[in-house]
Amino acid sequence: MSESLTTVAYLGATILFILSLGGLSHPESARRGNAYGMIGMAIAVLATVLGPHVTASGLSWIVAAMVAGGSLGLYAARTVQMTQMPELVALMHSLVGLAATLVGYANYIDPSVSAQLAGAEKTIHEVEIYIGVLIGAITLSGSLIAFGKLSGRVGGKPLLLPGRHWLNLIGLLVVIVVGQRFLGAESVSDGMLPLVVMTVIALLFGVHMVMAIGGADMPVVVSMLNSYSGWAAAATGFMLNNDLLIVTGALVGSSGAILSYIMCRAMNRNFISVIAGGFGGGATKPAAGGGGAAQPEGEVVAVTAAETSEMLREAKNVIIVPGYGMAVAQAQHTVNEITQYLRSKGVNVRFGIHPVAGRMPGHMNVLLAEAKVPYDIVQEMDELNDDFGDTDIAMVIGANDIVNPAAQDDPSSPIAGMPVLEVWKAKNSIVMKRSMASGYAGVDNPLFYKENNRMLFGDAKKMLDEVLAALKAAA
Ligand code: TAP
Repeated sequence: MSESLTTVAYLGATILFILSLGGLSHPESARRGNAYGMIGMAIAVLATVLGPHVTASGLSWIVAAMVAGGSLGLYAARTVQMTQMPELVALMHSLVGLAATLVGYANYIDPSVSAQLAGAEKTIHEVEIYIGVLIGAITLSGSLIAFGKLSGRVGGKPLLLPGRHWLNLIGLLVVIVVGQRFLGAESVSDGMLPLVVMTVIALLFGVHMVMAIGGADMPVVVSMLNSYSGWAAAATGFMLNNDLLIVTGALVGSSGAILSYIMCRAMNRNFISVIAGGFGGGATKPAAGGGGAAQPEGEVVAVTAAETSEMLREAKNVIIVPGYGMAVAQAQHTVNEITQYLRSKGVNVRFGIHPVAGRMPGHMNVLLAEAKVPYDIVQEMDELNDDFGDTDIAMVIGANDIVNPAAQDDPSSPIAGMPVLEVWKAKNSIVMKRSMASGYAGVDNPLFYKENNRMLFGDAKKMLDEVLAALKAAA
C-alpha cells in the first residue's frame, strides 16, 4: 500500500473514531458508535500492517503477535463477567503503558533511528522517548495496582505514607535532573542509566499514586488511568511518527480526562486532591466490613416479597434505584417485567441512575438497555432528586453507597460530600439486598434504620421474581 493511500485510510479511520465517540454519548446511538469504532480500527490496523513501513519478514512477526494477542483478548472478553469489566479495563490500560515503555526503549536503542537524527531533531526525538516512557511506566504500574484493588487482591484502604506529597515532589525533581543527563548523553550506553532510573521512579510513582487512593474514589482513578493510557498511546505515536496513533491517543486521553472531571463533580471531589491521594479514607477509617464515623442507631424493619408487592400495588409514583447488586444478581430482566406490569396498571415508574452506580461508568444504563427498559423513564440523579418528596415508593435494588444519607449528614464519613439519591425523602423506601453488609466504600448506611424504610432481604433476582409472582397473583 502506498504512503498516500495509507494517509487517506488514516484520515478515514480518524473520522470514524470521532463519529464513534459521538455515538457513544447516548444509549440509543451507542451500538452505531461501537460499529464506527470497530470499522475505524479495522481500517487503521490494515492500513498500518499493509503500509510501506512493514517488510515481509516483519509482517509474519506482526501476524503472529496479532493472532496471539487477539486470541487472548477474545478469550478474556468472552469469559469476563459484566461486574469484572473495570478490572479488565484496568489490565488493558496497563498493557498500553507497557507498550509505550517498550516502544520508548526500542526506539532509543534502534541504531537506524538515532543515526538519522542530529541537533534539534535528535533532542526532540529524545524528549518524546523520555516523556513516552515516563507516562507509559506510570500508567503500567498504576493500572496494575488499580486492577489489584478492584479485584480485591490489594486492600482498598488508602496507603498514606508520611510526607507523601514531599516524596512525590522529590521524585519529580529527580526525574527532571535525570532527564537533563539523558538529553546530554553522548551515546546510547551513556543515556541508558538515566532512562532506567527515571523508569524506576515512574513505576514507583504509579504504585504510590494509586495506593494512596481510597476505595470510594476508585472510579475516578480508573477513568484517570484511561486518560493516561491515551496520552501514552499518543506519545508512542510521536516516537513512531504515526499520525493516527497520535490522534487516537489524544482522543482517548482527552475524553478520559473529561470523564474523570465529570466523575469528580458527581462525587464532589477535587480532581487534583484525588490524584494527590488521601481522599476516600475519611478522618476515621471504616473498620473492615462496615462501620463509618457515626454508627447508625434504631431498628431495621424487614418485609416479605408479598408485602412489597402490596406496597407497590397501592403506589402511584415509584422510583427504582438500581446498584451493583442488581448487576451481580442479573435481575434487570425481572426489573423490566415488574416495570411493564406496574406501568400497565397506570403506575408512574421511573429509574434514578447515580453516575457511579455499579462498578463502571454507565453500568446501570447498559443493563437496563439490555433488558429493554424504555430510555425515557431512565433518568440521571440530577433530573429526579427533587422528585422523591412526591414519590410513594423508592425501590432500591442492590444499591448502597449511592443512597447513603451519611454523605450529606456526617462530615466525618469517608463518602462525605458525595451527592446521593435522596430516597429517604419518599413516603416509603424499600431496600433490597441480602444482608446488612456495607457497600463498596465500606461504610454503614443509616438509611436502613429510617422509620419509613423497609428491608427486603435476599438475592435481588430471587426476591424480584417473588414480587412479580405476587403482583400477578393478586391481579
Ligand atoms: P455498593 O455500594 O457497592 O452496594 C451494593 C450492594 O449490593 C451491597 O451492599 C450488597 O449488599 C448488595 N448486593 C450484592 N449482591 C447482591 C445480590 N445478589 N442481590 C441483592 N443485593 C446484592 O453499590 P452502589 O450503591 O451501586 O455504589 C457503587 C459503589 O461502587 C460506589 O461506592 C462507587 O464509588 C464504587 N465504584 C463505582 C465504580 C463506577 S465507575 N461506577 C467503579 C469502582 C467503584 P449485600 O452483600 O448485603 O447483598
